Amino acid sequence: MDGSMNINPSEQELGAADAPFYLPQDDEIDVFAAAYTNRLPVLLKGPTGCGKTRFVTHMAAQLGRPLYTVACHDDLSAADLIGRYLLKGGETVWVDGPLTRAVREGAICYLDEVVEARKDVTVVLHPLTDDRRILPIDRTGEELEAAPGFMLVASYNPGYQNILKTLKPSTRQRFVSLEFDFPAPGLETRVVAQESGLDPDRCAALVRLAGKLRALKGQDLEEGVSTRLVVYAATLIAQGMSTDRAILAAMVEPLTDDEDTKRGLLDLVAAIFG
Ligand SMILES: Nc1ncnc2c1ncn2[C@@H]1O[C@H](COP(=O)(O)OP(=O)(O)OP(=O)(O)O)[C@@H](O)[C@H]1O
Ligand SMILES: [Mg+2]
Repeated sequence: MDGSMNINPSEQELGAADAPFYLPQDDEIDVFAAAYTNRLPVLLKGPTGCGKTRFVTHMAAQLGRPLYTVACHDDLSAADLIGRYLLKGGETVWVDGPLTRAVREGAICYLDEVVEARKDVTVVLHPLTDDRRILPIDRTGEELEAAPGFMLVASYNPGYQNILKTLKPSTRQRFVSLEFDFPAPGLETRVVAQESGLDPDRCAALVRLAGKLRALKGQDLEEGVSTRLVVYAATLIAQGMSTDRAILAAMVEPLTDDEDTKRGLLDLVAAIFG
């Protein structure tokens, strides 16, 4: 399959009025807005399902910029981002990749899980993420200067890293960085209630359970339960599923395949909901 076909950038152009719900954990909205104003790129670090993507979608809408999201994977090359010549009706035509479109249009380009991408991708990002803000396109000989609204945002989960997959200091030190984590219990309860429609008391109990499950990270579990999964559990309960069934399906099974670990997690569930 052609590499450009599986990127599928999601383009969204939202006004501030229909910005998706995002509850700030700290001053991240101010930092992001200041970075945008000053044309600085931003790197978001944090575990899966803690709100990074939601935050970027929210900020793009707030700032009135189109958003191109690229989910990076280990086959993603510079050409997938920049563009390539494609055969169309017997003719070879140049087709911009999502990064090039964002650079031309002054959009936000969000590279999700950027450490997964191939090495040649970072080379492309360097001249774009310092004060030059240029994108050289070798294939066409163009050297694009980023339009004023262009902003590069990247995210990665430091937990997934291994020695081979980490950002080089020369890349990392080109970004204003924000660390994300799961919201504090009071905030997470509000997020879960808002997203699921379940009453806040029952959401608070799910968030308490999430806290206990997160305490097991590193011992029995690779990653703590995400806010995303807590929202799933609450959504299933709000739709009429029993609490036990919803927790098993949304907050236990996704965390482990090991039967012993699963029994241990269910003991924690019983301690809170039993
Ligand atoms: N602060 C928040 N405000 C609103 N919703 C939130 C917040 N934090 C988490 N969520 C909820 O959690 C879900 C998962 O968040 P999101 O998709 O942004 O995670 P992520 O950090 O991008 O994860 P991944 O690294 O797996 O891509 C969202 O769909 C939303 O329902
Ligand atoms: Mg995400």
